[in-house]
Amino acid sequence: MNNGLEDVVAAETVLSDVRGAVGQLIIRGYPLSALAGHWTFEQTAHLLFTDFFADLPDAAEFAARLGAARVDVFERTQELLGPMSKLPAYDGMRAAMAMLPDDTALPDALRLLAAPAVFLPALIRMQAGDEAIEPSANAGHAADVIRMLGRSDGARALDTYLVTVSDHGLNASTFAARVVASTQAGLTSSVLAGLGALKGPLHGGAPGPVIDMLDAIAEEGDSARWIDRALDKGERLMGFGHRIYRTRDPRTDALKAALRSFGGVDARLRFAESVEQAALDALHRRKPDRVLETNVEFYTALLLEAAGFPKHAFTGVFAMGRVAGWLAHAREQALTGRLIRPASRYVEALTKDAA
Ligand code: ACO
Repeated sequence: MNNGLEDVVAAETVLSDVRGAVGQLIIRGYPLSALAGHWTFEQTAHLLFTDFFADLPDAAEFAARLGAARVDVFERTQELLGPMSKLPAYDGMRAAMAMLPDDTALPDALRLLAAPAVFLPALIRMQAGDEAIEPSANAGHAADVIRMLGRSDGARALDTYLVTVSDHGLNASTFAARVVASTQAGLTSSVLAGLGALKGPLHGGAPGPVIDMLDAIAEEGDSARWIDRALDKGERLMGFGHRIYRTRDPRTDALKAALRSFGGVDARLRFAESVEQAALDALHRRKPDRVLETNVEFYTALLLEAAGFPKHAFTGVFAMGRVAGWLAHAREQALTGRLIRPASRYVEALTKDAA
């Protein structure tokens, strides 16, 4: 028995393979380096969905239908977004997604794929006192997100980010989505489970705190001292460490390359690299027996900051990409027809005889 289920194989999948020992991520036969920066998010989602939906059109038609789904989702929920905008952006997005029909056909999947891209920019703008901008069916998915944020640059980098995080083996949120799908519940239910698991700082909640860490270190002016103090207090450094990778997370470099496409980020990047080095030095010194390297969240934080997302919304952007993997995994699991129902070991009676 191990509490974290490490090394337990709980599913067979054709979707992705996280090769932790060599720092490689394979998505449906392609190494991440062949997809990130080369394929669009729509093409990647189409690749992930292949074989899991009976009426899947070709990639071009799929992209067109995703554009139409963005408009559909916006129109269905427009008047409900006001109350949702009182919640933190991630929670508002999750509440809005819970309003979508909960079935398992392609139109359901397309709505759920579209939904974070529509809701998150709308909620960010409404919270800033601005009007939500309607989606455009004809725009590329990432370009439409940037447009709905009210910005004009960063579409290509965001597209690279969404592809990079679209799927990643049996991570906690994907496992949660598969557990729900194994009960033959609808796709909305699976995606809501994924959203719940992604939110925590040990999974998708880390990039906002990465910015907090960078800001605190910038104010103090001494990376090593700040890092040592945090580690002395038993805190974890956000953006470092991984359950599977025993080397550098390959997504880190894909994101760093995309980040360089923004003008004016050189100084921020140099500073982040110096903090990264100080963090790695401290982690290697303190835990020489553990491989603690930079994970995807460190450069995610910088990329999403450069793209204009507020840090409280970073986890929502992660969901915008990972929802593609959740949906494909949910269908893959449901098609096995097998309920996931592990056993527990009873260790001690908590209640005694009431008498
Ligand atoms: N900072 C400081 N110490 C760390 C860190 C870190 N970021 N990560 C692991 N450690 C330490 C642990 O305290 C532990 O020490 P111990 O053996 O003395 O108790 C040791 O390294 C091993 O840690 P585990 O908890 O066994 O590693 P696990 O595989 O469970 O953790 C995790 C993976 C949760 C990602 C962890 O590295 C962490 O908390 N990182 C910080 C949060 C973060 O970056 N989250 C995003 C992850 S990426 C993603 O999900 C998309």
